[in-house]
Amino acid sequence: MQLPKAVTIKEVGPRDGLQNEKTLVSVADKVEWINMLSNCGLPYIEVTSFVNPKWIPALADCYEVATSIERKRGVTYAALVPNEKGLEKALEANLDEISVFMSASETHNKKNINKSITETYPILERVVQEALLAKKSVRGYVSTVFGCPYEGNIEIDQVMRVSEKLFEMGISELSLGDTIGVANPKQVQLLLVQFLKRFPTNKLALHFHDTRGLALANIYATLQMGITTFDSSIGGLGGCPYAPGASGNVATDDVNYMLKKMDIETNIDDRKLLDAARFIEARLQKKLMSHSMVVNANQCIDRV
Ligand code: HMG
Ligand code: MG
Repeated sequence: MQLPKAVTIKEVGPRDGLQNEKTLVSVADKVEWINMLSNCGLPYIEVTSFVNPKWIPALADCYEVATSIERKRGVTYAALVPNEKGLEKALEANLDEISVFMSASETHNKKNINKSITETYPILERVVQEALLAKKSVRGYVSTVFGCPYEGNIEIDQVMRVSEKLFEMGISELSLGDTIGVANPKQVQLLLVQFLKRFPTNKLALHFHDTRGLALANIYATLQMGITTFDSSIGGLGGCPYAPGASGNVATDDVNYMLKKMDIETNIDDRKLLDAARFIEARLQKKLMSHSMVVNANQCIDRV
């Protein structure tokens, strides 16, 4: 069987991981944590969101965080941007990449960014154009690709329509989001069969939440289709405030463990990763439930 030799892991913990947390982390702690993540070998870190702080209070410090972190050479630092107001700040902070985001489902789009899908397109179009003019690369997210908490199943054609619009705007990569963690490996492969007729593997990333424990199985199914970019969050932190019942992202430490055991290169130092997970665990004062963290807490020794 042909599997990729190397995979790119995009760490979304400082953004997706923290956006739904009740315990606020100080700017100093976020900065120290992101600096630790930068030293793990991760090639990409989504550090924050330039959204309305009334909607996402946990990331109200976006500008301070983005301008205080150490910028390690070789690491791409990115942030979510919903509109021109957010873009202005992200450009001022001189991040490397910005990510625009919307949903395949009308209801989730409305609840998440307060616009219909049709109203969202011209807003994102302007954001992408301005970001490209400022020489920033732009990533796009589509949420609720495999199911919506309000509408249930979403047709592949609908996901395709939104995705094509984002590519037409000029995004360089699309991240397909299983926002509430309902995808299964068969469903993922069926969607990718359609997507790979339209887009090459290197334009697509997968963003799995792990609500039902299927995220690693979904990643394996995705690897079989030739995709080599995955979003994940250290320790399994994460969730969307406008997707009730959604749990954390698939854990970076677990994805890294699986890939390494399969001889797929990630260039990530697993010990440093666990140190960074323990750091944020202490600041949030809650146990991180990734398999790696649980194994570590129980002092199980992996002899194989
Ligand atoms: P709105 O209320 O419709 O915005 O929010 P508006 O343009 O009508 O402006 C209203 C107020 O918001 C004004 O302030 C604006 O200045 C302010 P006021 O005059 O009332 O004091 N405002 C802003 N403030 C700061 N930064 C901005 C900004 N824009 C307007 N950029 C908006 C529209 C999109 C801003 C709002 O709905 C919002 O912030 N939503 C963010 C929701 C969010 O962050 N969700 C989580 C991320 S998505 C996700 O997790 C999914 C993903 O992980 C993939 C997956 O898992 O599927 C990516
Ligand atoms: Mg997410």
